Amino acid sequence: MSQQQGEPVNIFSLETEIEENWAEINHAVQRVIKSGMFILGSEVNAFEEEAAKYLGAKHAISCANGTDALIISLRALDIKAGDEVITTPFSFFASAESICLVGAKPQFVDVDLDTMNMDMSQLEAAITEKTKAIMPVHLFGLPANMDALMEIAERRGIAVIEDTAQAFGARVPDGKYQGQSVGCIGTTGTYSFFPTKNLGCYGDGGMISTNDDEVAKMCRMIRFHGSNRRYHHEMIGMNSRLDALQAAILRLKLPMLDGYNAARVQVAKNYASLLEGVEGIITPEVRPGHIFHQYTIRVLDGRRDELQEKLRDKAIGSIIYYPIPQDRLEVFEGQYDRMPNSDTLAEQVLSLPIHPYLKLEQQQRVAAGISEIL
Ligand SMILES: Cc1ncc(COP(=O)(O)O)c(C=O)c1O
Repeated sequence: MSQQQGEPVNIFSLETEIEENWAEINHAVQRVIKSGMFILGSEVNAFEEEAAKYLGAKHAISCANGTDALIISLRALDIKAGDEVITTPFSFFASAESICLVGAKPQFVDVDLDTMNMDMSQLEAAITEKTKAIMPVHLFGLPANMDALMEIAERRGIAVIEDTAQAFGARVPDGKYQGQSVGCIGTTGTYSFFPTKNLGCYGDGGMISTNDDEVAKMCRMIRFHGSNRRYHHEMIGMNSRLDALQAAILRLKLPMLDGYNAARVQVAKNYASLLEGVEGIITPEVRPGHIFHQYTIRVLDGRRDELQEKLRDKAIGSIIYYPIPQDRLEVFEGQYDRMPNSDTLAEQVLSLPIHPYLKLEQQQRVAAGISEIL
């Protein structure tokens, strides 16, 4: 029997964003259609320039999606069979999958329970003579500890691919890289513009950023059939291009991104105070630099699935990112030792509704639902 009270609270919604910007969206879409230039071209070039400027990167190379951005980065760095790439087990499968797709082997370093990002104190022990890159993930919008990571990577001469799919617009809050955009510290940064991302388009889209001219040239070549000059193919590449309609949407949304990210942080602050004192959960710390792609609580005492089910009865959406750490997925069965922190998180995490247009009364309904259930 449904115990729904009030309007449903969806885990994510673009409805208000689209309504508010309807005229500008139409204008952008019509501009592209009238131009007759649908793949790459001036709209895509303009977005790449604007994105590079926003991030403070020398080069931005757009592509078809965030997974391809990882694959293109790996290939541009000549990572291949026999190589190892270190990443975190607690991420979306694209992180490990991209490493496997270039023929290399993912090696995992467990995460820190509080930040859910790679535990840099365990990183150096995982490096072998086969390690060709480290792929941190700025999970849920929280910058990974780049000071500690870069100190190790630079000392050991290892490339860094920052999986920034969930953190476009996050800036390092302190330390050596203070104020820099995440994704622009390592050798490359990779981004996804999947519609739910902090900067999302209305379809698939992705991008690579780099300050290295040679790497940028390779990325451009790989995304377009191994070619920099029409009908001259210097290597085996891919067909991985951003289309102009998506670039136009991204150009419209990029100037709004800081405001959107600030709105997400405000939602996180509201949840933190609304959920204060609720027993049986741990709420994420609202750390400087965090742009809250997700607001992910930990539910203790084995009650996570029960909480999710009862929230569903109240028409409150929630989602489990991630129920199975990458190293425990069927595809890797028997290949890795257990990673205790990511195993624990997989049993506890629950992401609550968050987006820039989530109303205060919706946030209150979510928090009230949780405290009633627990
Ligand atoms: C951490 C991470 N890496 C990579 C990707 C892949 O991005 P895409 O879905 O655009 O291929 C995602 C997408 O969800 C992600 O969350």
